[in-house]
Amino acid sequence: MNFQESNSFHRVADIGEIADPGKTLVDVDGEMIALFHVGGQFHAIDDVCTHDGGPLVDGELIDHKIACPRHGAKFDIRTGAALSMPAVRATRSHEVKIEDGGVWVRLRNESAPLGPAAHTIGTVPAAPSGASQNPLADTASTPTATPTSPTPDPISALPLSEDGIREMLKQVKDPELFVNIVDLGLIYGVTIAASAEATGRQHVSIDMTMTSPACPAGPQLIGDTKRVVGSHADVAAVEVRIVMDPPWTPDRMTEAARDQLGIF
Ligand code: FES
Repeated sequence: MNFQESNSFHRVADIGEIADPGKTLVDVDGEMIALFHVGGQFHAIDDVCTHDGGPLVDGELIDHKIACPRHGAKFDIRTGAALSMPAVRATRSHEVKIEDGGVWVRLRNESAPLGPAAHTIGTVPAAPSGASQNPLADTASTPTATPTSPTPDPISALPLSEDGIREMLKQVKDPELFVNIVDLGLIYGVTIAASAEATGRQHVSIDMTMTSPACPAGPQLIGDTKRVVGSHADVAAVEVRIVMDPPWTPDRMTEAARDQLGIF
């Protein structure tokens, strides 16, 4: 590879050096960039999967899509857009030009934009004035006109069984995907045992995984899980164990999650 600089473009390869279709890794100003040659056109994106930082250039290239070899997220090589789970954020794309028989790349400095599914969540949406602050308010009954009627507790109304706890956990949503952790396939197991400390109440242990070991939402998901299940009247304590084996894969998602994320 021949590296020269022209203005802010860097010559990274000769045109004939990369097969069509083909891909290679190039160094542009100290950054590792995945360079693609498809249909007579060259495209350049960061060699970084936005799910968990995996390198992209070793993945399978199909038309204008590159699949991350780690967990299968797909990106559009023309724009860097994230096309499938578990990535929701675009990777950076860069300018490419052909000149003097060479391929030239100019880095774009702006951060990759958030994908459409990204939300600032985990934060419970603000309730309208006067409405309940209960995060389960959308499933609670409409308040009646009788001021003395107690508001039903929808969590404590659920049976304290594995199915009931999975139902409770549908209230806990991934802050980037806005899909609940049950439908994402993050709950590996639920164990319920009599509490040693509180007679008549239960100790709940939940085995949970993350979509990646470095998932930034992990502490929030653990905290929300403890808060929701711990609000059941018969629960004395909630323990969350993070399990990374077997690792999470997108095929653990339910049809409901796939529909919500637009994956077919
Ligand atoms: S690191 Fe690429 S899909 Fe997980």
